Order: sequence, then structure tokens, then C-alpha cells
Amino acid sequence: MERVWLSALGRDVSRVALGTWSMGGWMWGGADRDAACATIERALDAGIDIVDTAPAYGFGLSEELLGEVLDRRRNRSEVVIATKLGLSWDSRHEPWRDSSPGRIREEVVASLSRLRTDYIDLYQVHWPDPKVALDQTAAELGMLVDEGLIRAVGVCNYSGDQMQEFCSGGRLDASQFRYNLFERAAEEDVLPFCRAHGLVTLAYSPLARGLLSGKMKRGHEATDQARRGDMFHGESYVRHLAAVERLDEFAQERYGRRVIHLAIRWLLDQPGLTIALWGARTPEQIDAAEGVSGFTLDVSAMAEIDAIIAGELGA
Ligand SMILES: NC(=O)c1ccc[n+]([C@@H]2O[C@H](COP(=O)([O-])OP(=O)(O)OC[C@H]3O[C@@H](n4cnc5c(N)ncnc54)[C@H](OP(=O)(O)O)[C@@H]3O)[C@@H](O)[C@H]2O)c1
Repeated sequence: MERVWLSALGRDVSRVALGTWSMGGWMWGGADRDAACATIERALDAGIDIVDTAPAYGFGLSEELLGEVLDRRRNRSEVVIATKLGLSWDSRHEPWRDSSPGRIREEVVASLSRLRTDYIDLYQVHWPDPKVALDQTAAELGMLVDEGLIRAVGVCNYSGDQMQEFCSGGRLDASQFRYNLFERAAEEDVLPFCRAHGLVTLAYSPLARGLLSGKMKRGHEATDQARRGDMFHGESYVRHLAAVERLDEFAQERYGRRVIHLAIRWLLDQPGLTIALWGARTPEQIDAAEGVSGFTLDVSAMAEIDAIIAGELGA
């Protein structure tokens, strides 16, 4: 498992992190508690020692399960916990954004309790809150660092300008954004900002919510909310599946790997990309992470990959 040094935390971590959104069940058609715990265990056994979670993932469930596993294994200090703040929910599980200082205080106490720990390694704002000045949120998070409740500060889904504004109020160590072979908007201003400011970068949905795993098939469109975009329906779905098939052939012929490995390798070989957040909800799913190491994509391979995608998607 490849590793990377994170100076903000004064330690190294695996470049593949376990993502726990789908195992929490929310927007993914429900959760299986035992399978989720077994997945966390398997990831840790495989040398994945950074886990990304959030209060909203299963409305506390994903954080709770991670806390349960770490408690059972008694290895809290060996694992980097990256969790989030700023998404609350009502009694009908309708989420809303709130990154105000008062709410941050309530959230950090609740997350620490669910995670059964007294500190969070990386605390990330889940979505920018238009009602709260970004520098005010940053200042509050800076105070949590000073108090030892959190160790590093991150944001998710922020533009370059929003990160700039956030930085005027306090420290910023990491940025998380959607990034995969099919979804590259982060290349416009987010990745360049992160590179220029030396931020840790975490790519979410690296498998395009399962599309790049190679398991999705024609005639079987996903129905869960997490996969409601154009990419998963109609003619666009068929074209994306064709691209996945061609990428799978390329991965097999060139590297003896599959498309799932190629998709993660492509991310890890992008300049400035630190960590890929692999979402898994069964132990077998995370086993495939082993095949990501031992090869790299050079400039000509990157160009061939782009040509395959452009050919199938007409981009
Ligand atoms: N900050 C944010 O706003 C944000 C947003 C999204 C995600 N994230 C983080 O990023 C993580 C990863 O993103 P993601 O969950 O959206 O998408 P993803 O990692 O691209 O895809 C996850 C899905 O891929 C499928 N999968 C994974 N490994 C597989 C394997 N070996 N074989 C076949 N299928 C496999 C599973 O689908 P099935 O469930 O169908 O089995 C899994 O739920 C999340 O868990 C979360 O921690 C953060």
C-alpha cells in the first residue's frame, strides 16, 4: 500500500483511504451493520489507515461503526479519522447546511462521542454554508485545533475562491472534492489552488460511485439516490459503460490489471493528488485496492486513456 507524509498531522498514511458514505446507507439504499464493520476491519488489516466519514453518512451510523471497530481493536492512534461538520438533518432526515460557530461546537461534541475518541485528526466542512462567512467558520475550527479537539482543518466542495476566503480566517490543511476519470471539474480551479497552497487533496467518488468498478451492466440502471446523475441513465449510461469496457481492455492488455485498478491509479498519478477515498461496503470490495500499486501511468498512457474516453463519450 503506497503511503504519503502529511506534515499537517506529522505522520504518514496510506494513499488509499476507506470512504464510509455507502456503508452508512443514506442515499445508497440502506446499510448492513455487520458488513460495514467487517469492511472497516478488512481495510485496516490491509494497511489502509485513514478513514473518511461524516455525521450525515447514515445519520450518525457510519461514525458510530468506525468508533465501535476502533474501540474493539484498541488502535485509535494508529488510524487517521477524517470526519466532517456542517450538514445537519431534521426528523425526516432532510439535510441542511450550518457551519456557524455555535453549531460547530455542538457537532464536534457529538462526533467525538460517536467515534469514541477525544480528538479528530482531520475535521472538514462538508459543504460551504452560504449563510455563514467562510472566515468565521475557519476561525472557529482554528480554536478547536488550539484546544486539541481536532488536529487539522479541511473543506469539501469548495471552489478556489471559497478556499481563499476561508484561509483569511484561519488555517486550511486539506481539500476534498469529486474527482475521477469521468468527472474532472476539479481540474479547473480547485486542484490548481490546492497545488499552489500545498494542501492535502482527497478525491471522492474515485470510482464514479461504482461505474468505474466494472460491475455495472447495461439494462441494470441503479435506483439509489447517490447515482441519480445523467451518467447513470439512458444513452449517457450506455456510452459510459462502453468507455468502462474499453478502459478495462486497456488495463488488462497493458498492465494485467482491471478498470477498477486503472481508475484509482489514474488519480494517484495526477500531480497534486494526495489520497483517493475508496467507498466500500463489503470486505471483498476493498480487497481490490491491492491491485492499485506496482504500476504507474506515463504521459502516453494518460493520453491513450483520454482518447478512449473522448472516443466513447464524444467529448
Ligand atoms: N465530501 C463529500 O461531499 C463527499 C461526497 C461523496 C463521497 N465522499 C467520500 O468519498 C468516499 C468515496 O466516494 P463514493 O462512495 O461517492 O464513490 P466511489 O468510491 O466512487 O464508489 C463507491 C461504490 O463503488 C462500488 N464499489 C467499490 N468497490 C467495489 C468493488 N471492488 N467492486 C465493485 N463495486 C465496488 C460500491 O457500490 P455498491 O454500493 O453498489 O456496492 C461502492 O458503494 C465516500 O465513501 C465518502 O467517504 C465525500
